[in-house]
Amino acid sequence: MKTLIVYYTWHNGNTKRIAEMIHERIPSDLCAIETVQPYPEEYRRASDQGKKETESGFEPEIRELPYDISDYDRIIVGTPTWWYTMAPAVRTFLDQNDFSGKEVVPFMTNAGWPGTVIKDMTALCRSARISHAREILFDSEGGDKLITPEAEIDAWIDSLQ
Ligand SMILES: Cc1cc2nc3c(=O)[nH]c(=O)nc-3n(C[C@H](O)[C@H](O)[C@H](O)COP(=O)(O)O)c2cc1C
Repeated sequence: MKTLIVYYTWHNGNTKRIAEMIHERIPSDLCAIETVQPYPEEYRRASDQGKKETESGFEPEIRELPYDISDYDRIIVGTPTWWYTMAPAVRTFLDQNDFSGKEVVPFMTNAGWPGTVIKDMTALCRSARISHAREILFDSEGGDKLITPEAEIDAWIDSLQ
């Protein structure tokens, strides 16, 4: 089975950190989703923009990935939680691609308010087989302290072997 890990990360690199943990243990390719227009560097402004975008379902333009998802059987997709749903760039990625006949493993990082991220990702992956969805908790200050025990994450990664 060929596996591609695709993630978006903006704030602390939390989602990137989990994506890299999976990549270290599972034969896979790994790449990041990047928006064409970067978000403001100042947290408050980026957060306000993110709020407007998630509320309206806006899909920002994203850069072409270095891999073609049609070459893979399984796509593992990671997003931070933004205003109770996936980050807008991940919405673009899921909406723009055809996952027919593929397995999609959605995972998300959050700070304690997980909202409907997994449900929203599942709804966008039309015709994919969704499996092993996973929420991973970082600290409630929005920082980079991992709260979900690493042993739980390891067990989840083992289940993906
Ligand atoms: C714009 C924005 C909105 C956020 N909204 C939420 C939220 O609704 N619920 C939550 O638990 N965490 C929320 N967070 C916290 C992040 O989901 C969390 O810190 C995540 O691990 C950051 O991942 P990253 O470092 O890969 O970007 C938000 C962070 C940002 C920047």
